[in-house]
This record gives sequence, C-alpha cells and structure tokens, in this order.
Amino acid sequence: MQLEPSAGGTAAAQPAAETPAATQVALPARLGHILSLDDFERAARSHLPGPVFAYVSGAVERNASLRANAASFEHYEFVPRMLVDISRRTTATTLLGKRYAAPFGMAPMGICALSAYRGDLVLARAAAAENVPMVMSGSSLIRLEEIVQANPDAWFQAYLPGDEPNRIALVERVKAAGYRTLVITLDASIASNRENNIRAGFSTPLRPSLSLAWQGITHPRWTVGTFLRTIVQHGMPHFENNHARRGAPILSSNVQRDFSDRGHLDWDDLRTIRRLWPGQLVVKGILDVRDARFAVDLGADGIIVSNHGGRQLDGTVAPLKVLPRIVQACPEVPVMIDSGFRRGTDVLKALALGAKFVFIGRPFNYAASVAGEPGVRKAITLLREEVSRNMAMLGVNQLSELDASYLLPAGS
Ligand code: GLV
Repeated sequence: MQLEPSAGGTAAAQPAAETPAATQVALPARLGHILSLDDFERAARSHLPGPVFAYVSGAVERNASLRANAASFEHYEFVPRMLVDISRRTTATTLLGKRYAAPFGMAPMGICALSAYRGDLVLARAAAAENVPMVMSGSSLIRLEEIVQANPDAWFQAYLPGDEPNRIALVERVKAAGYRTLVITLDASIASNRENNIRAGFSTPLRPSLSLAWQGITHPRWTVGTFLRTIVQHGMPHFENNHARRGAPILSSNVQRDFSDRGHLDWDDLRTIRRLWPGQLVVKGILDVRDARFAVDLGADGIIVSNHGGRQLDGTVAPLKVLPRIVQACPEVPVMIDSGFRRGTDVLKALALGAKFVFIGRPFNYAASVAGEPGVRKAITLLREEVSRNMAMLGVNQLSELDASYLLPAGS
C-alpha cells in the first residue's frame, strides 16, 4: 500500500497502539478528487450502471425518510470548549468488549458483490485492516463462511426466515461458521415500496434486457472489472445467506427471489433466537422506546436505532431524533445508530446524544465499487480523520467525554 502525506495536518494525534499501521491510503489518480464520503457517491454514480446505482442510493416512495435522516444533523449545533490540551486525543472506543480504532463501522448492505467486485469481502478486509466492525448482510452473494474467515470479527445480520425450521437452520449455520455477533433486523417484515428501483430498471434477480445490456456497454469499467470478472472467476452469483441453503441467482429471466414471509413474527420468535444464539445479539431497526425495552428485556446485548437508511417505511422519524430517549430508557446496553451519517460531525453529534457507536452503509459500498479495498480504507481514514479533527476543535480527548453539553438545538 502506498503512503501519501496527511491531508489533515495534526488531525490524527492518536497514541500509536490505537491506530492501524497504514492510516494513509492512496487512490488511483482518476480518484484524486476524493476528499469526503460524498465524493465517493459522485464517483459511483458515473461508475455504476443506472439500475445498480439506483438500488444502492435509493430509498422509498417520496424519499421523505432519506431527507429527514440527512436533515436531522442540522437540528443540533456544537458548543465547543477552548484551551483543552487535545494532543493526546484518540478516536478509539470499546464496543461489546472489543477496542476499535473509530466509533463507526460498516452497516449491512445487500448484494454489494454486484456493485463492487467481491464487495462483501472487500468491506470485510478493509474493516479488519482499519480495525472497525463490519456487518455482513444476509441478503448477500458471497458465502458467509468466506467472510468470517477473512475477518473473524465480522458480525452477521440476518433477516429471519418466516418458518421455524429455516430460522433455526440459519442461526445454526451462522454459529457453525464462527460468527460471534448476530444482528437481527426487525424493520423489514415485508418488502418495502422501492418504486424508484422499478423505474430505474432494477429488480432481484436482474432480468436480462436490451436496456440492461446497454447499461453494461456504457459502463465498461464495471462490466469488465466487476460483473464479467465475477462470472468468469466465481460463476453466476446467487443469494447465499438468506437461508441455510443457497437461494436464487442474481441474473435470471425466470427465477423468483425468495422474499420470505416473515410478517407473522413477534417478540416470542426473537426470544427463541436469544435462546438459540450463544453469542452477542444485536437488534436493529428500533425506533420506539417500548421496542427498545422489549429487546433489552429479552436479552439483547445492544440495539441499533435505525430506519434502514430510509429504505423501509417512508416518512419514518430520523433515528437521531429518538436516540436520546432510547439511550435514557436502555442504560444497560450500548445503543448504536445508523441512517444518513456522512461526516465526522454527524458521528460526534450522535455520540454527544448518547450513542455508543455509529454504522454507515452506502458510502462504503460506493468506495468499494470505485476503488476496491484501498477505496474503503480511504473512506474509513477520511472519516476517522474528520472525527479526530473535530474532537480537537470541540476540546475532547476521549469520545466518552462527549455529552449533551456539547450541543444546543439549532435555532434555540
Ligand atoms: C437491504 O437491506 C436493502 O435495504 O435493500
């Protein structure tokens, strides 16, 4: 890996033991303009075929939740402290018994081996190299066993199959593979209304068509470097991890993807999973305080406050808005959050409101698409440097020092 001079000056003033060895990652010259996570989105928009970009970037219906997520950070403004010696500050933090280099990690993302060559593997390796957590999505195209071998600290996120034998078989498979942390996502009990995907020509499986072929021709770097390379080296990708058994192929004119009917599941089913799963159990997709308490009372080790990046119920409250009340109601577990985070300042606002950790999805997917593992490591580095630089300007040495006194509601 090449080294380049720090763009952030003294941004990363951390004790050596806390930071990974190669904190500066160089990208190909064509990506020299990448200075922030949003820049990866712009690069991915031209790199990816329209339908694939639409799947990653899109939300639902009027994108109200997507906008609310982005806007939620502006509802708070910082109140920094002065003349604090911040020369020994660190972005490192402990989550569920493990020390990580930064207070953020990778949210689960479905089918990211379609947007990036070996996408889940790239994310897993970059996360291991930079010492941040990576959550492997169950809706993915690379076998979960391969991912945990590349990154023994990876977490696995399941959408629970509707019928009990399949649920038990999936949990047993995840356990046998060696995962230690299981995330159950609750907000996708049925498929949401992804009209924008349909309009853009995206479906799972993808249906071969003239317009899809045209997208391939007009995006040759993706077609050759991701799609054809995958087919030649690994065969046609299938949904590998929704169940204990293999699912549908990603490209097919007639196979139906199996959207398990899980609409009848209730808290008793989660209680059963808790009994079956000996490792750490994290429940994702919580927005209501009562649900947060149910999850903790039945034995969840952590919760992720999330509206699925605005991809499920449109008009759902932004997670940041409900975060303080959930933190207050569940003091005994780490409360994590995702949906809309793009900047170090976003991360620090959530931590000041009581979040223990932040998960981020799409930007890491874009980084993997346009630049593989170095791209993802660059994205992690950029964000970690933003967090460190902003800690300095806030007058904070440890993330645990952050609390609501560093914020005021905007407009107050
Ligand atoms: C998968 O989790 C998706 O939101 O598409």
